[in-house]
Amino acid sequence: MLGEINNLLKVVKEENIETSEDLENFRLKYLSKNGIISSMFDKFKNLEKEEKIKYGKLLNEFKNKVDIKFNEKKKLIESKLIKSKEILDESLPGLQLNLGSEHPLNIVKNSIIDIFKKLSFEISEGNEIEDDWHNFTALNFPENHPARDMQDTFFIKKDIALRTHTSSVQVRVMENKKPPIRTISPGRVYRNEVVSSRSNCFFHQIEGLYINKNVSFADLKFVLYKFVEEFFGKNIKIRFRPSYFPFTEPSAEMDIYLGKDTEDKNRLTKGTGWLEIMGCGMVDENVLKNCGIDSNKYSGFAFGMGVERIAMLKYGIKDIRMFFENDIRLLNQFAIL
Ligand code: DAH
Repeated sequence: MLGEINNLLKVVKEENIETSEDLENFRLKYLSKNGIISSMFDKFKNLEKEEKIKYGKLLNEFKNKVDIKFNEKKKLIESKLIKSKEILDESLPGLQLNLGSEHPLNIVKNSIIDIFKKLSFEISEGNEIEDDWHNFTALNFPENHPARDMQDTFFIKKDIALRTHTSSVQVRVMENKKPPIRTISPGRVYRNEVVSSRSNCFFHQIEGLYINKNVSFADLKFVLYKFVEEFFGKNIKIRFRPSYFPFTEPSAEMDIYLGKDTEDKNRLTKGTGWLEIMGCGMVDENVLKNCGIDSNKYSGFAFGMGVERIAMLKYGIKDIRMFFENDIRLLNQFAIL
């Protein structure tokens, strides 16, 4: 019996138990009613008294070792099972995804774009790093003309600068397309300005351009009035004031009437009730010529507005810098969920 127990001990040690099936086979083989241990105890019963004393302890030790191996493997396999179940538990609620928020400038930009899309305008985008031709010269800013000082420019090197306005995109579109052209160009622009609550060294504009046969100032007024009506509401009053831009003739600025009923509106409109929201005008003949468009055949209008100014108005944001600080107390107010 001694030899048998020693052999079995070796065999038990080498038993490989990885899965719950292995474990069950092990249990059946050694620990079940008809298993090896049970049959060993049957044999043990028939031994002589002296032999019982000799082998009793050994047999018990053997049984203990089998029990220990069984219990340890059982624990291990069960914990593995629980872990794999945790990964696969499809009944658990999903993780809450934080969807973030849409930036207020994007909300305003997209709603402006949507309005012009309904009026058949396409979207075009130019370059933020622009050459002198597209940002100034083609737009009828003569070299060394003081009009260039209207916009303080960040130059990268001679004749290359960060664009000061999205009017540069007009030029790129006209150079590449034949009329009729209806396009709006949203984008970021840069100016070397002192940063304050009302002006920043970069901001966003939306430029508009319409070129066709027989386009008149009346068409300009119609389109801009439609835009304002859609964006600010039906009862909004607007006015056009004569102005100057090198690339339009005649040029105008468009104001909307806010009234002066609150201190805020009074401050915004400098006590007049009117707030300027964009520049516009009929595209200057020189600009058409510079871009290869026959000014005897075609005419057009252009306009440009600042997105921040409109967003500040819409949401009552009093400091332009707040758009760029990523303060979640502001951004959370525009959260998607
Ligand atoms: N580019 C002008 C600016 O940045 C805005 C502007 C004025 C655009 C008149 C136009 C326009 O297209 O016709 O101040």
